[in-house]
Amino acid sequence: MEIQGSVALVTGANRGLGQHLADELVRRGAAKVYAAARHTEQITSAGVMPLQLDINNPHSVAAAAAAAPDITLLVNNAGNYNEATLLDGAMDDIRALMETHYFGTLSVTRAFAPLLIANAPGAILNVASVLSWLHPASTGAYNAAKAALWAQTDSVREELASHDVTVTALHVGYMDTDMISDLSVVKNDPGLIAAAALDGVATEAQEVLADDLTRQIRASLGCDQAYLATS
Ligand SMILES: NC(=O)c1ccc[n+]([C@@H]2O[C@H](COP(=O)([O-])OP(=O)(O)OC[C@H]3O[C@@H](n4cnc5c(N)ncnc54)[C@H](OP(=O)(O)O)[C@@H]3O)[C@@H](O)[C@H]2O)c1
Repeated sequence: MEIQGSVALVTGANRGLGQHLADELVRRGAAKVYAAARHTEQITSAGVMPLQLDINNPHSVAAAAAAAPDITLLVNNAGNYNEATLLDGAMDDIRALMETHYFGTLSVTRAFAPLLIANAPGAILNVASVLSWLHPASTGAYNAAKAALWAQTDSVREELASHDVTVTALHVGYMDTDMISDLSVVKNDPGLIAAAALDGVATEAQEVLADDLTRQIRASLGCDQAYLATS
């Protein structure tokens, strides 16, 4: 899909990867970039149109769809994080992750799909994770939410295939954003990841595997889980 001239909407565009995606879309000549966020006053990107959107609030989702009827590229980036484990974590924390990554993203996609079809050709980019496939106990709830989003992405891709709307999944490991600011690990530059993700949209890739860790885990999916845990 041609990024130049597209009308894009990025969820969670006030910080982190979402802000980089919005900035990169402007740089690549998108005709309009709706920077959607719960707190639009936090949006500092130049050349974007702030748009209020809480992806977990059905009224907010409907209002955003009504306000952006010209959309041709939907970027489902918004996401939350906690370290709830599946046996000991609070059920509310486990539900909060599924609510946002799976149901929130799905409700945004359902609201915007008719517009993307009407304005086709179009595209959707869903921000998943290496944890769609790698499932350590320490992030059990988050893994499940991203695995569910991966499955959602594949099914939605098939539903939209005949409507000239492509669907790309971004899978990535650690990124240097607020989400994992407490972790002392080597992190990817979210600006570079945003660029790789939009390259994938432009080439209509089904998946963007954005770093070595992600490519390694994807390649070892047929292996014993014990191997994945130690690799
Ligand atoms: N950082 C990593 O290592 C990493 C790795 C793989 C995948 N990811 C994924 O990358 C995406 C972006 O995360 P990030 O690293 O940029 O994290 P971040 O800096 O914490 O940003 C998260 C963004 O999502 C927004 N958000 C959360 N819940 C929302 C809701 N209900 N409605 C609207 N916006 C909401 C936040 O808005 P507020 O400011 O209002 O909270 C914020 O803009 C997420 O899907 C995340 O799961 C991150």
